[in-house]
Amino acid sequence: MHSRSPLMHNYWFEQQGLTGTYVPLAIEPEGLAAALRALQPLGFAGCNLTIPHKQDAMAIVDEVDDVAKRIGAISCVVVRDDGSLFGTNNDWLGFIGNLKQTQPDWRADAGPVAVIGAGGGSRAVCYGLMQEGAKEIRLVNRTLEKAEAIAEEFGGPIRALPWDERHDALDGVALVVNTTSQGMVGQSELDLHLDRLPKTALPADIIYTPLESPFLTQARERGHATVGGLGMLLHQGPPAWKLWFDVEPTVTEELRDRMERSIAGT
Ligand code: ATR
Repeated sequence: MHSRSPLMHNYWFEQQGLTGTYVPLAIEPEGLAAALRALQPLGFAGCNLTIPHKQDAMAIVDEVDDVAKRIGAISCVVVRDDGSLFGTNNDWLGFIGNLKQTQPDWRADAGPVAVIGAGGGSRAVCYGLMQEGAKEIRLVNRTLEKAEAIAEEFGGPIRALPWDERHDALDGVALVVNTTSQGMVGQSELDLHLDRLPKTALPADIIYTPLESPFLTQARERGHATVGGLGMLLHQGPPAWKLWFDVEPTVTEELRDRMERSIAGT
């Protein structure tokens, strides 16, 4: 019920001149299947899914695309004309779309990438980086087995590294992404020393509460350009609209501003 998605999608209904609304629905895990099946009779074009429903929904919808299977979670459901439910994952598009909008010169193959964390967010980020052609991804996680599982499943450029190598893993990277929950409101800060991080490296976070995580504050104070997590939420929206309504709204400065003000509570 704290979701900022309604603010974003309802902004786009206005921007696109469409009659419609995006509503937050608090669904208990036991009610997920019935809720998803109710979308069609209630007249919804689709929905987004958030924690803890992203995995469970995969077994409920009628078709899951390869992207969502690879990432292991559904972020978006489309009610098709015949009433069947299609599930996909747009989180990776959100991460990449935001990097491209805010850092137009960014290239995935510009150098090694360090990804901290190996949960659901990390899988979407790693998938996106691989799609964009990253040549080396150093995946560091507190629980090494989870990083190893992603490296094995995704293959290619991903190398799993133990948690105590996280500081050294920043050596020579072009991009470092925090995908752990460390630094989120109510959580302790990410314990990561930036002394090995090249001055030209781009630090990014997928956390957006707070808007600037302590990790990014530390990086900004060291002189780095940084990429916050709000943009990932903003940029997974247009691909969902493409599927729901066959139009792609734009992530405007005004929208970003409204979202930032809402999250900051101003
Ligand atoms: P999400 O789906 O949002 O990515 P998640 O799947 O719960 O959430 O993943 C959380 C990530 O934060 C994991 O990489 C987790 O590490 P573990 O796999 O070892 O659990 C990481 N994380 C959570 N608390 C942490 C902590 N205190 N120190 C380091 N990493 C932590």
